[in-house]
Amino acid sequence: MDDMRGTPVSAAKPSSLEIYETALNAFNCYRGDPVEIIDKALADDPGFVMGHIFRAHIHVSLWERSVLSELNAILAILDELSGAANDRERAHVAALKRWAWGDWNGMRAALDRLLAEYPRDLLALQMGHLLDFYHGDRENLRGRIARALPHWNRDDKGYGFILGMQAFGLEECGAYDEAEETGRRAFEMEPDDCWAQHAVAHVMEMQARQDEAIAFMAAREHHWAQDDNAFAFHNWWHTALFHLDQDRPVRALQIYDRGVRAEPAPIQLMMLDAAALLWRLHLRRIDVGTRWEELATAYEKADEAGFYAFNDMHAMMAYVATGRSIAAAALLKIVEAEEDQAGTNGMMTREVGLPIVRAIEAFGREAYGEAMDTLMPVRYRAHIFGGSHAQRDIVHRTLIEAALRSPDKALAIALTNERTSLKPHCPFGLQLKQRATQ
Ligand SMILES: [Fe+2]
Repeated sequence: MDDMRGTPVSAAKPSSLEIYETALNAFNCYRGDPVEIIDKALADDPGFVMGHIFRAHIHVSLWERSVLSELNAILAILDELSGAANDRERAHVAALKRWAWGDWNGMRAALDRLLAEYPRDLLALQMGHLLDFYHGDRENLRGRIARALPHWNRDDKGYGFILGMQAFGLEECGAYDEAEETGRRAFEMEPDDCWAQHAVAHVMEMQARQDEAIAFMAAREHHWAQDDNAFAFHNWWHTALFHLDQDRPVRALQIYDRGVRAEPAPIQLMMLDAAALLWRLHLRRIDVGTRWEELATAYEKADEAGFYAFNDMHAMMAYVATGRSIAAAALLKIVEAEEDQAGTNGMMTREVGLPIVRAIEAFGREAYGEAMDTLMPVRYRAHIFGGSHAQRDIVHRTLIEAALRSPDKALAIALTNERTSLKPHCPFGLQLKQRATQ
């Protein structure tokens, strides 16, 4: 059988494929629980290979150590079903195995090859896109979708979501006008495409269009902040950043409570946005009440240290902000050990993760010169450990704050000059410059 985009699927039952399409659409919109949906198909059809593959991908998309045992169990089932799988499905399984081994880059490469063969594989496109994001690979965020787009037509099921992904890739590559136009076209076709909404929000963040962005997020809130939207926390995070740069920390904290950290979920992706928002406030010496304590405790309870360098940086921020020096030292030791490891996270840690974690720890000890010296050489290659420009701005903000608090006023002036040249109208950037030149 073929799915709705003509991609071959080895399903025996039409009902399995029908449920797969529903689950995939939920994943495209980041709404509901795609695993719960696909499990209905697997309960009725345990040999549904694509159902198991889909389930495995959803686990990988969380990018946590916590999913590994379940992922390996799914891969064991897929090994048993390999005789029933088609070539595309076997390529998916091979890609997923790479991730389970810690070769995240290998999974990206495997999905690239798979997509050259099957450019209308919407699941592979979205997962590839997310993997490119976790690697901060802006060229491939745009390129992966660009390679597939000529194989798609406007009327194809899922075309709008492809445009949403393309919009984000364009934004990360700095093609802001094209990104915004593509993102707006995407949610005209798929109004609930919260990823397209997010791509346009990123354009506004990079261009410091805060007032307009706040109105834009509010006007379309019913399309991205539904109760079952699993990505809403991140779009709320962007909304809070717009307020923060307009010097409205109270409003940012209200959004933190309502949207960014409405529930104390032990999910790293959600925790890192929470930490990133609170750290921006911490750099401004703004009291956030007990919020840091809740978050730092969640980091301590999680068994995720040394799994993904980008998460380690945010965990260190929580420990530093709460003065948890024992937890900070333990994290540092684990990250130092990870530096020698094979696998993609070992590379990320060596290249940027370890220096940045060390710098955050030094910042916490008020060793601002040390923090500056450690951050200066790595700040422009921090994309290696993933995230977006907007997320990695936290590295630049930390560096500038360290410079402002150190006797090295010349560096503070230089760095704030750089920042205002990129965002001449951003009130926060202008504030920093004023502090540097006082
Ligand atoms: Fe974002």
